[in-house]
Amino acid sequence: MPQHVRGVIARSKGAPVELAEIVIPDPGPGEVVVAVAACGVCHTDLTYREGGINDEFPFLLGHEAAGIVETVGEGVDSLEIGDFVILNWRAVCGQCRACRRGRPQYCFSTFNAEQKMTLLDGTELTPALGIGAFAEKTLVHAGQCTKVDPTSDPAVVGLLGCGVMAGLGAAVNTGAVGRGDSVAVIGCGGVGDAAIVGARLAGASKIIAVDRDDKKLAWASDLGATHTINAAQTDVVTAVQDLTGGFGADVVIDAVGRPETWKQAFYARDLAGTVVLVGVPTPEMRLEMPLLDFFSHGGALKSSWYGDCLPDRDFPVLVDLYRQGRLPLEKFVTERIAIDEVEGAFHTMHAGNVLRSVVVL
Ligand SMILES: NC(=O)c1ccc[n+]([C@@H]2O[C@H](COP(=O)([O-])OP(=O)(O)OC[C@H]3O[C@@H](n4cnc5c(N)ncnc54)[C@H](O)[C@@H]3O)[C@@H](O)[C@H]2O)c1
Ligand SMILES: [Zn+2]
Ligand SMILES: [Zn+2]
Repeated sequence: MPQHVRGVIARSKGAPVELAEIVIPDPGPGEVVVAVAACGVCHTDLTYREGGINDEFPFLLGHEAAGIVETVGEGVDSLEIGDFVILNWRAVCGQCRACRRGRPQYCFSTFNAEQKMTLLDGTELTPALGIGAFAEKTLVHAGQCTKVDPTSDPAVVGLLGCGVMAGLGAAVNTGAVGRGDSVAVIGCGGVGDAAIVGARLAGASKIIAVDRDDKKLAWASDLGATHTINAAQTDVVTAVQDLTGGFGADVVIDAVGRPETWKQAFYARDLAGTVVLVGVPTPEMRLEMPLLDFFSHGGALKSSWYGDCLPDRDFPVLVDLYRQGRLPLEKFVTERIAIDEVEGAFHTMHAGNVLRSVVVL
């Protein structure tokens, strides 16, 4: 029997989100229904609402979540009813060219549920990143569920489902930060701070946090930054060079995603350093700089999607590290809110007052 539950809908570009009754079909082959326990508010949900991803309104927002498997469809043998899972937006297919070449993090036909969740009048919903978890229940593909330790706090470990994994993986997977490296992170929101935590876990000896907001810099220090630079007051490139013996940092992570921050990352790195772009630029942004500067610097220029993670490989490990007290995931949860408070959480995020607001169901 299809079920009726409450979910947070963005009906049209820029309009405030609203709580609506939605219909969750019974899971078909390969699909599962998950009772959502918690879902973080990510910047990308706001970008969906603003029409910045595509115009397939109405959206069912929310994609950074953990919950309990409630029902499973035909052929699902990896999951059982009652399993505690973190939802992911990279259920790799194993068949595409990228997967077959041993680079599943670049899989270009990741699985989502085939059936649609709808409004009561039958209007099909587009779930954010194929998840849609600002809802009491959601329908996903079984591959989008990664089983983790069931005694974990869902509001905390659910953050691995997007922003924390993206930032941490940008440092550890994409940037390949190693022991003794110097690392600079530009933009210390949830994603940048997760990169700081990742750099610390990987053994970086110097971790330089860069932001325009002193409150963010204080949080970054609490999470492991060894030095801070206020970009509104100081020249970032010179300051990073000064802190690294004049060389620049081995890895610089741009967790803002603007031309000016990317250029700072480019010039603030060591001659053989790596730039990782994890912040998401908007379509109109352009970069202009001397081509000779590219030529005369070595190293690597990379972008990082979802921290190059493989959920089934990475989530359980990170949950273990959290449970052992080696990954301070709980510090990313600034506030817990109800499902009807998502619109307010967008404003709080915009004002820079949170790392994460998490909807708890
Ligand atoms: N690549 C991925 O897979 C992925 C996944 C999730 C989120 N993201 C993106 O990562 C970015 C950061 O997300 P977030 O949730 O941390 O956002 P956020 O808004 O919480 O944090 C951004 C931070 O950057 C700082 N900032 C803004 N302009 C700056 C500047 N010019 N110099 C220095 N600091 C500046 C802000 O003060 C803020 O602390 C967003 O673009 C988001 O869409 C990417
Ligand atoms: Zn694939
Ligand atoms: Zn996200």
